[in-house]
Amino acid sequence: ISTRLVVDRDFVVSDLDRRIFGSFVEHLGRAVYTGIYEPGHPTADERGFRGDVMELTRELGPTIVRYPGGNFVSGYNWEDGVGPAADRPVRLDLAWASTETNQFGTNEFMEWCKATDIEPMWAVNLGTRGPDEAREFLEYCNHPGGTALSDLRKSHGVEAPHDIKFWCLGNEMDGPWQICSKTADEYGRIAHETAKLMRLVDPTIQLAACGSSQHNMPTYGKWEDTVLEHCFDDVDFISLHTYFENRGDSTPEFFGCIEQMDVSIKEIVAVADGVAARKHSTKRIMLSFDEWNVWYKARSINDLRKPGWPQAPRLLEEIYNTEDALVVGGALIVMMNNADRVKAACLAQLVNVIGPIMTEPGGPAWRQTIFYPFAQATRFAHGKVLRPVIESPSYEAKSHPEIPYLCACVVDDESTGTTTVFALNRHLTETMQLRVELRGLGTSRTLDHALALHHSNMKATNTKDAPNTVVPENNPHVQVDGETILAELKPGSWNVIVTT
Ligand code: AHR
Repeated sequence: ISTRLVVDRDFVVSDLDRRIFGSFVEHLGRAVYTGIYEPGHPTADERGFRGDVMELTRELGPTIVRYPGGNFVSGYNWEDGVGPAADRPVRLDLAWASTETNQFGTNEFMEWCKATDIEPMWAVNLGTRGPDEAREFLEYCNHPGGTALSDLRKSHGVEAPHDIKFWCLGNEMDGPWQICSKTADEYGRIAHETAKLMRLVDPTIQLAACGSSQHNMPTYGKWEDTVLEHCFDDVDFISLHTYFENRGDSTPEFFGCIEQMDVSIKEIVAVADGVAARKHSTKRIMLSFDEWNVWYKARSINDLRKPGWPQAPRLLEEIYNTEDALVVGGALIVMMNNADRVKAACLAQLVNVIGPIMTEPGGPAWRQTIFYPFAQATRFAHGKVLRPVIESPSYEAKSHPEIPYLCACVVDDESTGTTTVFALNRHLTETMQLRVELRGLGTSRTLDHALALHHSNMKATNTKDAPNTVVPENNPHVQVDGETILAELKPGSWNVIVTT
């Protein structure tokens, strides 16, 4: 099939906010314990941080990481995770039916963020707790000193304030599974009051209100409308969550999720701007897609909870295959193409729990298939997203009425002269002949990289024993001629073409 992609340097969607390449570490299963933190592991440093996981995290390149939950945060007492480790209480984690030792907490996570050069995104507990604990925790973290809580931080060995900027006001408060879930009115009021108190402690912070936990929640749309009615003036972001599923085991249907993500972004923008209109406000609420990924295989009751209150059990350990990586790549393209409103996002999660990185306790760490599109996007997407005009044949699916075979975006970095094309060929049997016209970006461009992620088996996976089954390869069938790129894209492939 033939497709065409045209961009013009003057037709810009927006600067890309690199916070859209975020990830997520929750106290859940083996995300923290035997994931990022495993004292005694052969690669662990003196703080217990696994060196192999830090190295893979740097290669993956997330810019911001959400912590400590997720559902976990709605029952979490921040005080349990600070101070001398020996004095920290062991608690029941009701969200994941696990035992939480609290050996890893706030200051450990901040240390880990520094070591991996990652910005923290912090969620406060608006389930069992409320505005007062949120403002206390913020004072502990961000106030320079001279008050009981900031001096408590100093007594824990952290002299300088953490200066955490990005705060989520709770997690999935619309979900009946959430500890102390709320109606939209209840949550909107609490979000408003919490934001008020937190901004009084530190006016420099940015705040995200919880949106719907899935686009198919019964209150989707109405929830955001009501919540923002209460806290429009107090927050900078509304969150979106989505987990893509391939329950019908059909790759073409599965690709419809990518289009659905685009629809959800546009719907929530419309709702937020509708609230702005009612309030006669020029303010625009931005979107934080702070949980997204493929997740449907490791979702049985045994994947969500194990009997006997185990510590760091194997939960949500989704094994990703080729088609999952293509969907993750497509989702990244969609978010980049919506860079004017999506200003933060978190691939949920980072390690072991629905993660691009897997580990064995005491053993190796390796990259799942979804690692690659994410790592390539964080590595190559810098600068401005250009508005793509796409000509492509499409197909009809139950999941979406019209799915173009080509899904693509172009990011241009004026500071280096680098222009990168990310393209997914959603045709499963035909090679795509793609013509890209990079108008106004210089007539003598050269090709720096042409990379493709493809495997003839959509169910192929990377495992501990065969970690390199699905890996990117060079694509020799890409030519640059003046401002035109001619590329042959394999059926069912994710592609990155970098030119200067
Ligand atoms: O990421 C796993 C879980 O999915 C999170 O804890 C929750 O917020 C969502 O439902």
